[in-house]
Amino acid sequence: MFKINENYLKLPGSYLFSTIGKKVRAYGEAHPEAKIIRLGIGDVTQPLAPAIIEALHGAVEEMGEEAAFRGYAPDLGYEFLRTAIAEQDYRARGCDIGADEIFISDGAKCDCGNIQEIFSLDNLVAVCDPVYPVYVDSNVMAGRTGVYDRDTETWSNVIYMPCREENGFAPELPRRTPDLIYLCFPNNPTGAAVRKGQLQEWVDYANRVGAVILYDAAYEAYISEEDVPHSIYECEGARACAIEFRSFSKNAGFTGLRLGFTVVPKELKSGDVSLHALWARRHGTKYNGAPYIVQRAGEAVYTKEGRRQLKEQVAYYMNNARYILEGLKGAGFCVSGGVNAPYIWLKAPERMTSWEFFDVLLSKVQVVGTPGSGFGPSGEHYFRLTAFGSYENTVEAVDRIKNMKLG
Ligand SMILES: Cc1ncc(COP(=O)(O)O)c(C=O)c1O
Repeated sequence: MFKINENYLKLPGSYLFSTIGKKVRAYGEAHPEAKIIRLGIGDVTQPLAPAIIEALHGAVEEMGEEAAFRGYAPDLGYEFLRTAIAEQDYRARGCDIGADEIFISDGAKCDCGNIQEIFSLDNLVAVCDPVYPVYVDSNVMAGRTGVYDRDTETWSNVIYMPCREENGFAPELPRRTPDLIYLCFPNNPTGAAVRKGQLQEWVDYANRVGAVILYDAAYEAYISEEDVPHSIYECEGARACAIEFRSFSKNAGFTGLRLGFTVVPKELKSGDVSLHALWARRHGTKYNGAPYIVQRAGEAVYTKEGRRQLKEQVAYYMNNARYILEGLKGAGFCVSGGVNAPYIWLKAPERMTSWEFFDVLLSKVQVVGTPGSGFGPSGEHYFRLTAFGSYENTVEAVDRIKNMKLG
């Protein structure tokens, strides 16, 4: 008789986006005339840049020619893409990362979720609170997180590092010593970023206690301030303690195309076992590569024209972020994020819970955001708005919120 992986049964239901969907649908049915504006989703809305479309067409043509046709991709991904990444994302920033330390994949979500497989089940995991749910849930599935407490919404074997207003939404070094530390900067959902000195402290800490930092830099392209690191490898010693995840989803609009990569430096070792070798083994055994045409589209991200067009695309979203941030600040709301990230983290007024504020916004001004409590206990009383909508909708939503009368 077969048995299932019982760890899956321990996962608390993920009601966040389904509850939002249900509430919005019910409101829309009851008020068919209402124009509901959605600033809740973390998905991009702008079409792919012309340089990427051109590269896709070119690669599709090649696949129809006998001489240029490609089958399975090399295990780590195509050299042309890994070389462009190593040069432009890393060496151009003074980071010593080689093309052979880069593993191309179909996105950061799978890599963030799969990476825990190469670590022992005994490892103690630390996460920020609030947090992108994949880090915790993938460890629950593996059986690493202990017992779930429904009241506190926490796992017994997970270290939660609160990110609140008091600490500028940046985690503090934990009291218990973790083995695996998930960090995501610029952050989803808070939109916070850390300075290079702060990140260096984490790198020094990880090297001191023998922990690995799993660094998610999916929103790196949104960084606008000088002193904010784009990569953890800008910090000294990070090659010995950090794995970095990157995505083409938000910097180039690939959420539907799918492309990302993971960097595992060769110096990163447990005793004399290299994590690079373990991840290479996993990649080779369980993964057959991102499509050739998508990797060619990824290469276009690094061309002069591609870079120019994508800078404009990011600027479009960040102009929305600025409008939300300044508009709501001016109206007396307590807001943060939105400077180095496309997310604005808003404190619900009058001690409302995240869901109470959700209901108020939907019913009074027909604006949809994401309740912060859905990302972890420290997200309670907060609310996430995203800059990924159209400029026109963003302006209208913010103006409606500014003119909203509470009570
Ligand atoms: C923090 C973070 N990491 C990773 C991802 C997923 O990226 P991808 O689309 O490359 O799978 C997201 C997507 O929203 C994210 O917010």
